[in-house]
Amino acid sequence: MSHFSYQNGELCAENVPLTQIARQFGSPTYIYSKAALVENFSSYSDACKKHGRGEGKALVCYSVKSNSNLAVLNVLGQLGSGFDIVSGGELLRVLAAGGSPRKVIFSGVGKSRDEMRLALSHDILCFNVESIPELHRLNEVAAETGKRAPVSLRVNPNVDAKTHPYISTGLKDNKFGVAYEDALETYRVAASLPHINVIGIDCHIGSQLLDDAPLLEAVDKLIDLIDTLAAEDIAIHHLDIGGGIGINYNNDAPVAVGDYLSRLFAKIDAWRAAKHGGAPITVLFEPGRSIVGNAGVLLTEVQFIKHGETKNFAIVDAAMNDLMRPAMYEAWHGVQPVLQRDVATQIYDVVGPVCESGDWLARARELAIGEGDLLAIMSAGAYGMTMSSNYNTRGRAAEVMVDGSAAHLIRKRESPGDLFALESLLP
Ligand code: LLP
Repeated sequence: MSHFSYQNGELCAENVPLTQIARQFGSPTYIYSKAALVENFSSYSDACKKHGRGEGKALVCYSVKSNSNLAVLNVLGQLGSGFDIVSGGELLRVLAAGGSPRKVIFSGVGKSRDEMRLALSHDILCFNVESIPELHRLNEVAAETGKRAPVSLRVNPNVDAKTHPYISTGLKDNKFGVAYEDALETYRVAASLPHINVIGIDCHIGSQLLDDAPLLEAVDKLIDLIDTLAAEDIAIHHLDIGGGIGINYNNDAPVAVGDYLSRLFAKIDAWRAAKHGGAPITVLFEPGRSIVGNAGVLLTEVQFIKHGETKNFAIVDAAMNDLMRPAMYEAWHGVQPVLQRDVATQIYDVVGPVCESGDWLARARELAIGEGDLLAIMSAGAYGMTMSSNYNTRGRAAEVMVDGSAAHLIRKRESPGDLFALESLLP
């Protein structure tokens, strides 16, 4: 169910009209629905429970990069979520939001020594290692601290995720993971290092996947590898399938999370029964978009209506620095007027004030709008605020979370002064 809907001709987040949020907190503003977050997280946790995978048998590690606001992390942490991080900064966010480091997995191809030290000092659940040089570095850093680093190898299963090339990560020719053919040898190296403790295997093949077939294909490959490793006495205790399930942006029909998990657990159960006498294996997930994507919108106000020679432009106060996805991936986001008005519709490009032709949020949309109207850019909860920048010395948007009839400010709007506070003149 969508938690953004029209009530009496006015678009609301849960029970709060977006006009009220604009009056109270200004524009542009990211607005999240707490109920949507809870519902989306529960689609994973409920499916895990339904298949007999309670605490310790499955862990949903929300992918922090998709939306790292402390309030978002806190809500998910309270529901029992773990966290998939890609930097020391994200670890500090998880801790500041009250998340448990024992449920943190650390992904990424370029972890620094400092980041490794920080993560080791907090005894995180697992490092998802992506190369042999990284294994050696982690072994050295762990030795300095007298610990053994828990490790999973990110294996690149070489399956086609059939998604946008920029967000497809499981094919041979990209920078992520250890090539499938090299995985066994890399595990042997890992097992030989005194300060590395091999505990898992992981993959992440891409994002915005509408079909789960590529994920299930990747799991088949990981399962084969786990059996090969078992024959060499390298025991794998958890299988991490990454994130990737897509959301509906524009009449997309992504697989339902519950259906995907049913097929996945059926496959895993059959394999464990046949090859491992039914001994369970813990299953991890790293979803981002499917948890926050449709839980957020970007509220923006029309500044000017401009009639060009061939096109009409709605110039709004949000821009590519606020929501980069259209400029970067030609991504499609729905645009909904906050008030349904009785004016003639026209075809508009919705564009921002930034000095780039690539600064557009939506193209060729039929809208009944005028100057001063509020618009909601839909499905903007994931990779919206986290990818925003200060280009053109634009302060980043405010963030608000709605819970029932209450709207809470969860990040203040940046002021221009904030933007150059860290800079200094020459002496
Ligand atoms: N795990 C790893 C290792 C990842 O790299 C990612 C996302 C995820 C999990 C979460 O994937 P999700 O469930 O959200 O699909 N900026 C792009 C998306 C980049 C995804 C990067 N990796 C966009 O706006 O579409």
